[in-house]
Amino acid sequence: MNVQLDPHAKTENHPIDHFRLDVLEGLKNSPKRLSSKYFYDKIGDHLFQQIMAMPEYYLTRCELDIFKNKTQELTDLIIPENEPFDLIELGAGDAMKSTFLLKHLVERGLEFTYMPIDISGNILSILNEKLSTQFPDMPVTCLEGDYFDMLQKAASLSDRRKVILFLGSNIGNMNPEEAQSFCLSLNQNLSSGDRVLIGFDLKKNPHVILNAYNDKEGITAAFNLNLLTRINNELGGNFDREQFQHYQTYDPVSGACRSFLVSLKKQEVIIGRDRISFEENELIDMEISQKFSAEHIAELGEKSGFITAGEIKDSKEWFVDTIWQVK
Ligand code: AVI
Repeated sequence: MNVQLDPHAKTENHPIDHFRLDVLEGLKNSPKRLSSKYFYDKIGDHLFQQIMAMPEYYLTRCELDIFKNKTQELTDLIIPENEPFDLIELGAGDAMKSTFLLKHLVERGLEFTYMPIDISGNILSILNEKLSTQFPDMPVTCLEGDYFDMLQKAASLSDRRKVILFLGSNIGNMNPEEAQSFCLSLNQNLSSGDRVLIGFDLKKNPHVILNAYNDKEGITAAFNLNLLTRINNELGGNFDREQFQHYQTYDPVSGACRSFLVSLKKQEVIIGRDRISFEENELIDMEISQKFSAEHIAELGEKSGFITAGEIKDSKEWFVDTIWQVK
């Protein structure tokens, strides 16, 4: 039998189908929910660049301070012995912060391969191009795909000690249970003696935190609302952005900084063949940006099978890069 495959047919494995399923599933919840991992289309990437440049958004500058000014301390903690190693970065993006570390490692003649992991092949090829100009002799192996699949692949490529970077307080965009299971999976995908460096945004004056996510220019609001536009464009939606309003909260006790969109009226939205009803003032839970205490970080590491090797804070002590070792 001759089976004709429709090249445009959407299968369950197609990214658009995952996106559609996640969106529709999330909007069936109470409260309704959309995943912030979908914020990053082309416009979302651009808005996030603008967020990182905002005076209120301190996170990037704090971690940059660590990578720029405490590079030797970082090096001592991630590679205490001078053995050859693989430096793996999860969600490398443009590797803006890690470039300072790479420069330092290259200048000291340390033997390592840099392995950026990202789900976007396009981002990796731009990064590869940039790195080959900046560090022509540094071995780079780009790994495109899911973090844990690619960690397995890295293990199959070499038996050198692994050092994993997970920067930017990206771990804060997971809820506490997700963060716990992420750290456990990280541990299970590594070998004894391997190290991980994770960037955590620390609890601090609650006004400082809330201001970083509630800017007056409305860039963070646009970042959230852009997901509605993305749903309109990619999933055949008809969200009217004007009828949703960004609302940000920070709970200094739990450390959860959360963003919501509020429906400004009773309304119905179409997404493809589905209809979603909103009451006036009904919420969509959009993103968590968890802030951490020292105790919370220590507990996360212990429960995931790591021992703490050390930590480095920025000069304001607002942000910490913690280094754990697999037992
Ligand atoms: C990518 N992530 C760590 C950012 C954060 O701080 O949670 C995303 C972000 N959301 C609003 N502003 C920035």
